[in-house]
Amino acid sequence: MIFSSIEFNDKEPIYLQIENYIKIMIKNGMLVTDGKLPATRELSTILEVSRNSVITAYENLEVEGILYTVKGKGTFVAKNKILKGEQWKVSWGERTNNYGRLSEELDIVKHEIPWSKNLISFKSISPDGELFDMEEFKKAFLNSISIEGHKILNYGYAKGYKPLMDYLKAYMRKKGIETEDKEIIITNGFTEALEILLTAYTKPGDKILCENPTHNTAIKIMRVHDLDIIGVTMKEDGIDLSELETRLKSGKIKFGYLIPSYHNPTGIVMKAEKRLKVYKLFKKYDVPIIEDGFSEELLYNSTHISPMAALDKGGTGVVYIGSFSKILFPGIRIGWILADKELISTVESVKRCKNIHSSFLDQGVLYEYLKSGAFEKHVKKTRRFYKEKYELALKCINKYITPSFIYGEGALHVYIGLDGISSRELLDRCYKRGVIFTTGDIFSIDDSCKNTLRLGLSRVTLEEIEEGIKIIGQCINELQSEG
Ligand SMILES: Cc1ncc(COP(=O)(O)O)c(C=O)c1O
Repeated sequence: MIFSSIEFNDKEPIYLQIENYIKIMIKNGMLVTDGKLPATRELSTILEVSRNSVITAYENLEVEGILYTVKGKGTFVAKNKILKGEQWKVSWGERTNNYGRLSEELDIVKHEIPWSKNLISFKSISPDGELFDMEEFKKAFLNSISIEGHKILNYGYAKGYKPLMDYLKAYMRKKGIETEDKEIIITNGFTEALEILLTAYTKPGDKILCENPTHNTAIKIMRVHDLDIIGVTMKEDGIDLSELETRLKSGKIKFGYLIPSYHNPTGIVMKAEKRLKVYKLFKKYDVPIIEDGFSEELLYNSTHISPMAALDKGGTGVVYIGSFSKILFPGIRIGWILADKELISTVESVKRCKNIHSSFLDQGVLYEYLKSGAFEKHVKKTRRFYKEKYELALKCINKYITPSFIYGEGALHVYIGLDGISSRELLDRCYKRGVIFTTGDIFSIDDSCKNTLRLGLSRVTLEEIEEGIKIIGQCINELQSEG
């Protein structure tokens, strides 16, 4: 009780001491705007003073605009006039550490052209919300809450919600991965999975190898961890094998980060024989692989190809990261790591340090949704949906643009090269004509992707694909004719 600390002196009138005390309490933030003060009768009893002293103090403060009274409700603190001019200003910009500064510097959401209503945007590769089966999701939500509500609304385990973990282990076995000596941990998507892995196993200056170009968020996470990133050139069929071997041979590489299926940004799916060669090289030089399997389910141009983790029979060299962001709902933020038991045990403790565990409510609902069979239906629908867009995009690119290459086997995007044209310059021009896309440079470890761009197809309509690519083609022609 605030007023219990008041100590009266004999020199000043009681009402004035009450007034000053209230002012100090407001200044210190102990009494907040619209906070209710005790009734005058109550306060006079607490302070053992006359009720008139309290009434006078309140009235004077009301005249000064510090308090206000609502008839029948009581006396309240007015919007804080007292603090004005005495605010405590901290220059946070000067206090940021390297992690904070780099995170902001590399935050493309803050630095790239934002989406707006009238633009044809090829920037996104997140799923089209039209695909979400809301009825099935509502059912899953209600089932989960009614069956497990008391559990999933309480604290849970850092490794995750057991039924979901078991489901995912079985799901991984269907992909050909041996799971006996492995464990699983549920994470907030791929992004957290990579973050906690690097937190647990790398230190500044460590070397990490990846495809070049690669997923922009992964580059950002590697950079904020101050890692020495070694990019290996991407060819038409994926990572360049001889360059890979040279780099691996040079030694002291902590991890390799690879996206074998529907690589972002190129869309390349590495063939089975090549996966084996890549796996053997990493094994030969004892460099563990972090495999990002984020959208391998979207396969529709070729038959199923097992993840690289499936090649590592009984081994512990491949750390598999999965995510439901592209094949289901990104908003639910659920991903997982499947790896060696000892690694998962360490990562489990790191996860507990960071955020205790991923939301059990989300995990519970997702489990019900997966169990209902709605997931398989969703994936089939998704493949058909994106296939149509992808095929149209290819047709339009060939009709309106003459790219130096077109990479990508489908999924959510295509990646194209433009001889002698800066994709940044092209973007500026296209933006003026209402079309935006992602320039290749943000996926690059060096300066090698300045003449490339990624067209995300998931959120554009068929009409927008045709219209947008036509405009990009016209802008390329203009830039070429201007020399
Ligand atoms: C290569 C890659 N991996 C993983 C993800 C998914 O990340 P998250 O699960 O954190 O949403 C993406 C999303 O764009 C991606 O491009």
